[in-house]
Amino acid sequence: MRILRSRGDLGELDRLRGARPLVLVPTMGALHEGHLSLVRRAAAEGPVVVSIFVNPAQFGPGEDYAAYPRDLDRDLALLEPLGPAAVFVPDVATVYPQAGGVTVQPGRRAEGLCGAGRAGHFTGVLTVVAKLFGLVRPDLAVFGRKDAQQCLVIAEMVRDLMLPVRLVDAPTVREPDGLAMSSRNRYLDGDARRRALCLSRALGQARRLIDGGERRTAAVTAAMTEILGESDLVEYAAVRRLKDWSEPQRLSGPTLLAVAARVEPARLIDNLVLDITGAGASERPLLGAGDGP
Ligand code: PAF
Repeated sequence: MRILRSRGDLGELDRLRGARPLVLVPTMGALHEGHLSLVRRAAAEGPVVVSIFVNPAQFGPGEDYAAYPRDLDRDLALLEPLGPAAVFVPDVATVYPQAGGVTVQPGRRAEGLCGAGRAGHFTGVLTVVAKLFGLVRPDLAVFGRKDAQQCLVIAEMVRDLMLPVRLVDAPTVREPDGLAMSSRNRYLDGDARRRALCLSRALGQARRLIDGGERRTAAVTAAMTEILGESDLVEYAAVRRLKDWSEPQRLSGPTLLAVAARVEPARLIDNLVLDITGAGASERPLLGAGDGP
């Protein structure tokens, strides 16, 4: 496992380009089982490069950029047994060599949900992901489905800027009690950790209603919002059609159900991606089925 820090070091990746796709797993470190599942998914495709970079551009004023957990030694120890070919650990000056450089503006799928409450967040995400694609030049990149809107916003960028990279979204990994794994879960103490379960419970209730035949979006979002009331602040309980990012009145077809809430001191998100028919619903990936961006 090579540790690459500079643009010059990335020349080493050329020996990995060949018959199998070079796969990038972008992360901000503070790795957990969710990230490790992305690396395992990536390794099934070809040689893997994991990037670890806490991207200042995607944190807003007052967000947790300074406090974001950083422990490179621990991250490298977790990655080593999975055998990635390389870990790219650039510093801020490598990724942002000049102030005021070009940024990437997101498309339609940045509207609403996290895009509404985190001004500039997706511009920061797209700008760094475009730079990582330019630096590493992967054939394939693997992202976590837990950040569903992020996956869709990145897929729109790849489509609209015609970037030569394929994307895969890998399933959310959960704690045994249902909490979606997140680097920010380590902010949660006993009571907050317990209340954080309201996100996965809200989605579970939505799923039960849908399985029971409920197709009115308003009824499903109201049920999710009620359960999210256990948090300190409900940011959203939202439903979007994957095809066109519209808010349907009735649930049908490939659909994202997404929730966000503050459980102090953390801001948490979770989601469910479903194919909904008259007969029932089944979980599905976000990308690659021909009906997303
Ligand atoms: O999902 C993340 O960890 C980050 O948003 C990403 C994609 C690595 C960009 O900084």
